[in-house]
Amino acid sequence: MTKPGAPLSRRRFVGALASGALATGATPVALSARPQRERHLLTTRRHQSANDLIQIAVIGAGGMGMADVDTALRVPGVKLVAAADCFDGRLEAARGRHGREIFTTRDYREILARDDIDAVIVGTPDHWHKQISVDALLAGKAVYCEKPMVHSIEEGAELVSAQEQSGKTFQVGSQGMSSLGNEKAKQLLEEGAIGELNYAEGFWARNDPIGAWQYEIPEGASEETVDWDMFLGSAPRRPYDPLRIFRWRNYRDYGTGVSGDLFVHLFSSLHFVASSHGPRKIMAQGGLRYWKDGREVPDVLLGMFDYPESSGHPPFNLSLRVNFVDGTSGTTFLRLVGSEGAMDVTWTEVVLRKNKVVNPTDVFLQMKTDEMGTVVEERATMLPPAETVYVAEDDYWGAHYDHFANFFHGVREGVPVAEDAVFGLRAAAPALACNDSYFDEKVVSWDPETMEVRP
Ligand SMILES: NC(=O)c1ccc[n+]([C@@H]2O[C@H](COP(=O)([O-])OP(=O)(O)OC[C@H]3O[C@@H](n4cnc5c(N)ncnc54)[C@H](O)[C@@H]3O)[C@@H](O)[C@H]2O)c1
Repeated sequence: MTKPGAPLSRRRFVGALASGALATGATPVALSARPQRERHLLTTRRHQSANDLIQIAVIGAGGMGMADVDTALRVPGVKLVAAADCFDGRLEAARGRHGREIFTTRDYREILARDDIDAVIVGTPDHWHKQISVDALLAGKAVYCEKPMVHSIEEGAELVSAQEQSGKTFQVGSQGMSSLGNEKAKQLLEEGAIGELNYAEGFWARNDPIGAWQYEIPEGASEETVDWDMFLGSAPRRPYDPLRIFRWRNYRDYGTGVSGDLFVHLFSSLHFVASSHGPRKIMAQGGLRYWKDGREVPDVLLGMFDYPESSGHPPFNLSLRVNFVDGTSGTTFLRLVGSEGAMDVTWTEVVLRKNKVVNPTDVFLQMKTDEMGTVVEERATMLPPAETVYVAEDDYWGAHYDHFANFFHGVREGVPVAEDAVFGLRAAAPALACNDSYFDEKVVSWDPETMEVRP
């Protein structure tokens, strides 16, 4: 890392140098570096072979639950034997896709009572994650629970202790953290590729009804085909309302807003890449700008997070945003910025940029640079590539597969997994604290080590 006051480059300035402009460290040095690009392929992992058969069930057989099943079944030695869902239409679809012989039920406790099930996937709305996961662990099942791990920060401790007490494998489903892209970014950061981390940012942008959670209400959904009490669980009693079950993300009793839905992915990746336990101060602002369909949560949200120094990283700041009314449409990224460069990280690619090229586009800075006079050049050096792109091989099976392979490896070998309950709570809590900050208009203090909200 360049120390404050250290020479900015091997070139020397004369003329206006004595003005002291350089001493402030504020004036950039113009370097004539032609941007160069290097490409590297990220190699796919070797896929593990099957040992004993692992029999699984899905609880919450909706969009992600069934996508999880499809991916889980790609891992050798895994078989789906049962499904639970509180809407009959989903159970029928599961039987249609995976065979009429699979056991189906509206009541997940019937799944947990079966001896032929080793592991469950929890793909329900967020308000059920904690209870089903705790019940499943204590019933002796391994659990792959979708993100966010919990619906409120307070639920976290019970799930962490159920994981400990049961000794069973528990993995939260923020699959991106198991990706080749995240692994490469972690390696590069640890090797000092961007110098010392001081800032990170990430966002999700969307601009369409599906992206903004206005899902279809399935044909055939009615009070007869939906077990409404089973959907509500511990949420306040209400009369049957199809919007609440099929667009549950819009309501605070069941969902966790854009931060619980999307920030949590960025926290999981960032914490993995930067070996972080999380921020200590959390603040969010936003508003409901466009999708005024009765939803209770904002469609634009900005979060600011202060990360204290830890054994894994120096102190840094994080800024996150979600915008469901973004005219540039759907995209997402995570960027880590350091004293010597920056990395844009996705699940399949890392773009590493170095700070070597400085041609200020800012008119004021250009003027100040010009004022400084002639540059006397020493012999130029060979520059490293200004931009290096690492991309996954074409036959990469993706983060979702990697995360499930990691989960089943944990189940088979009894070894730790990538995203256990402690990691999962540290990723979920700052996301959930954004809702507390936004709705209560306050700064939330969080202790990432003890995993407690501070007064
Ligand atoms: N990891 C990812 O990339 C990713 C992507 C999408 C969703 N998710 C997560 O997956 C979960 C499900 O999201 P989704 O989009 O699939 O929602 P969904 O509405 O499509 O599916 C949820 C299913 O759970 C069922 N359900 C509700 N209460 C139940 C109960 N008590 N017992 C059994 N079934 C119950 C519903 O009937 C529905 O079929 C959420 O927690 C979400 O955050 C993760």
